[in-house]
Amino acid sequence: MKETKHASEPKSTLIAQVLALFEPIGYDLIEQWEDARSINLTLHRKAKHIWVRVRKKDEKVSAEQLDKFLLAIEQQEDRALSGCFVSLAGFTKAALTQVQRDASERLMLLSHHKGKLESVYPYQQQPSSVEKPKQRPLYIGVFTAKGGVGKTTIAGHLAGAFALMGESVVLLDCDPDKNLRKLFSQDGQASDAQPTMLVPAVNRHEAGALIRVLDPEQWRESKFPEVGIVIVDCSPVMSENSAKLVKRFDICVMPTTLNPLGIAKHADVMTRTFAHIRALNQTAQLMAVINNYDASKDAQKRNDVLLAYLQSSLADYFKTDHNAQLIPPDKAKIRHSNALQYWGYHIIEKSAPQLAFKETAGRSYPRSDFLQLADYLEAHVTLMPMISAAEV
Ligand SMILES: Nc1ncnc2c1ncn2[C@@H]1O[C@H](COP(=O)(O)OP(=O)(O)OP(=O)(O)O)[C@@H](O)[C@H]1O
Ligand SMILES: [Mg+2]
Repeated sequence: MKETKHASEPKSTLIAQVLALFEPIGYDLIEQWEDARSINLTLHRKAKHIWVRVRKKDEKVSAEQLDKFLLAIEQQEDRALSGCFVSLAGFTKAALTQVQRDASERLMLLSHHKGKLESVYPYQQQPSSVEKPKQRPLYIGVFTAKGGVGKTTIAGHLAGAFALMGESVVLLDCDPDKNLRKLFSQDGQASDAQPTMLVPAVNRHEAGALIRVLDPEQWRESKFPEVGIVIVDCSPVMSENSAKLVKRFDICVMPTTLNPLGIAKHADVMTRTFAHIRALNQTAQLMAVINNYDASKDAQKRNDVLLAYLQSSLADYFKTDHNAQLIPPDKAKIRHSNALQYWGYHIIEKSAPQLAFKETAGRSYPRSDFLQLADYLEAHVTLMPMISAAEV
């Protein structure tokens, strides 16, 4: 492993607890090293190694942090290496969903609960509920005044990510084109009265979660009490979106892309978009997310330059609005993928609707990207009491 190593005696009781789990089954501690965020151990038994990462901070480990750890394990040449992530405060729901979906055999997750370590993956029991008590649905608007940057794609797959996490989701289609309605209907037509998609649960013992597509007029909170997330695919024409709904947004996600020809225009469109939403809703978190991200190595330098340019163009606006941000792509982004590009092919083929979460070689980049985005959004929302907006 690459980081600086220095074997030393385990210091904290937590490390002692980790060792107390592994030593009785024959593992020895062969190295221990530390960085700002975590204490790392390598344990060894015959030809097998386990990399244990103990997160120092007392906060939930996110899907993105877990993904980085998995990637670091996969990059090691040692094929017999598996990983164990230990967290004092557990894992976010998206992080657990991602691991369960990947059914990773090389990973174990331990959480510290009431002074003891317990396994949350692979689990012996249901992970303890990580959700806040149910109040009202979380409203997420997907909006930008620019056309064709991925609003519908993001709305649909963000719904998919929340459904994978067990949430019942409603997608409201404010776009007169009714693309979402067509994408989720059984016959590819906008005339389907109430298109639905059942997303199977990651855990076979649980029921799946339902995604419903509704017109804004069909939506009543009291009619669907089980719904936890409402995602609104907005029309790029602001006046076509119901002001009542916009006022209800807890979060507004604005897709944008990193391409040189559009970038100055994007910054301008984004600033206007931010201002548009703010005029109606003073509390929503406004979050721009990079879509169509090219994650290949040779694009990295250009991406960094374009990102810095975009950030500097938005800096003046961000100074005036502390609840607006450009999500750093290393925290959450949506990569370019063929799966997303060809989403909707089922309409042409006349087959059943599906999300672009199909796995290739055991992984799905859209799935992990959208889980990470869901995780980031949930972590940055402060549910406001909604003084200004009446129930819809
Ligand atoms: N990450 C991605 N990778 C590959 N293709 C993508 C990605 N995101 C979006 N696309 C493709 O870009 C096109 C436009 O996306 P989409 O329809 O979601 O945009 P939109 O903002 O909703 O457009 P409109 O303003 O017309 O409603 C679609 O063909 C979609 O498949
Ligand atoms: Mg659209």
